[in-house]
Amino acid sequence: MKRIVQKKIEQYCQEHTNPESKLLHELVTETFAHTAFPEMEIGHLEGAFLRILVRLLRAKRILELGTFTGYSSLVMAEGLPDDGKLITCDIDPETTQIAKKYWSRSPHGKKIELRFGPALETLKTIEGLFDLEPV
Ligand SMILES: C[S@@+](CC[C@H](N)C(=O)[O-])C[C@H]1O[C@@H](n2cnc3c(N)ncnc32)[C@H](O)[C@@H]1O
Repeated sequence: MKRIVQKKIEQYCQEHTNPESKLLHELVTETFAHTAFPEMEIGHLEGAFLRILVRLLRAKRILELGTFTGYSSLVMAEGLPDDGKLITCDIDPETTQIAKKYWSRSPHGKKIELRFGPALETLKTIEGLFDLEPV
């Protein structure tokens, strides 16, 4: 398989990034054990990057399209201030059930709002501006 990032560079980044929290690690484990396409989930390094991005931008309102099991939502919520908000949408009842379970175990989960349904329909119901819109 052709790699996008050289193995040595990825290893260096892993070694110089804070370890993944126990909760996020459990979420990854459950995602790989119970979903058909776990590779859809972002990884530890991408998550750390997203969390820093949210902090650097001082983002307060985030819109995410595609929740899956909630890893990216949770790391971005960790970067938000207490009064920040992340709206995320998805159409899969099973994977979002896993997401909700892990958000409820985090103090940052209260910043996340899941809008269940097709993104194009959900977007019609959302008003206002967002500071970050990763898809
Ligand atoms: C690549 S995964 C998202 C990964 C997630 N952001 C993460 O890092 O763990 C894409 C998700 O988009 C959802 N999806 C696909 N079509 C959709 C649609 N029309 N509206 C909302 N969500 C959709 C899928 O159910 C899937 O969970």
